[in-house]
Amino acid sequence: MRLTSSTVAFALFAGAAAAQQAATEQPPQLETCLGCHGEGGNSRTPLVPSIAGQPEFFITNQLIYMREGVRPTPPMTPFVEKLTDAEIEALARAIAALPAARSEEVVDAGLAARGQKLSEQLRCASCHLPNLHGQEQMPRLAGQRIDYMTAAMQAYRDSQRPGADPMMSNVVVGLSDADIATLAHFAASRDPR
Ligand code: HEC
Ligand code: HEC
Repeated sequence: MRLTSSTVAFALFAGAAAAQQAATEQPPQLETCLGCHGEGGNSRTPLVPSIAGQPEFFITNQLIYMREGVRPTPPMTPFVEKLTDAEIEALARAIAALPAARSEEVVDAGLAARGQKLSEQLRCASCHLPNLHGQEQMPRLAGQRIDYMTAAMQAYRDSQRPGADPMMSNVVVGLSDADIATLAHFAASRDPR
């Protein structure tokens, strides 16, 4: 075929339309999820974690734990209990691809500096990576909500997080609430992108 400007224009148009269709083909449940987890998966609601850009494997695991009741999460139960494995995988892929952003909470620089030292002693980076972006079954902490991370670490420490991975619970055994606050401020101060 001889390329004329109109065939090129048509090819460009078809390509753009296909790309747009792929971009809008998101799992049908995602909009409901983001109703709680915030626009683009970045939460503006106290105690609701941001999920944008979390490792795909971490999201898949947590959704399966929630569906199976290993990590019962009452506000989410009606939204996860009927998801199929394929739907969970599609959601995890779509959410992992969303750009992560910091919350609007104010980070206390003094607490964050103390948290950085404690985090070095406790080797948070060995699992969550030096930039705290997480990997595999380990969540991103960088830029995550301070209130959520504080509550999560207290729950691991006090054996109150159902389905908790003991790898994580062991790290926070014996920490005070004040120690936990420094770690949450430090992690929140890191760049999530
Ligand atoms: C009614 C509000 C609500 C809806 C709707 C909701 N969630 Fe959640 N979600 C929460 C809360 C609250 C938590 C934190 C639970 C806790 O404190 O352990 C959570 C936790 C999570 C987590 C674990 C995050 C982490 O860092 O540990 C994932 C993943 C998640 N939700 C994904 C989803 C997906 C996918 C959907 C849609 C199918 C969804 N959520 C719908 C409120 C909601
Ligand atoms: C040995 C590996 C390991 C180390 C070291 C570690 N973590 Fe974790 N962390 C995990 C795993 C695995 C999870 C997910 C656990 C689960 O599924 O319950 C997790 C989860 C978390 C969560 C919950 C986040 C969420 O979105 O639900 C927080 C907060 C956290 N870690 C903070 C820290 C901090 C701060 C340190 C250092 C003081 C640390 N972790 C050290 C493995 C580790």
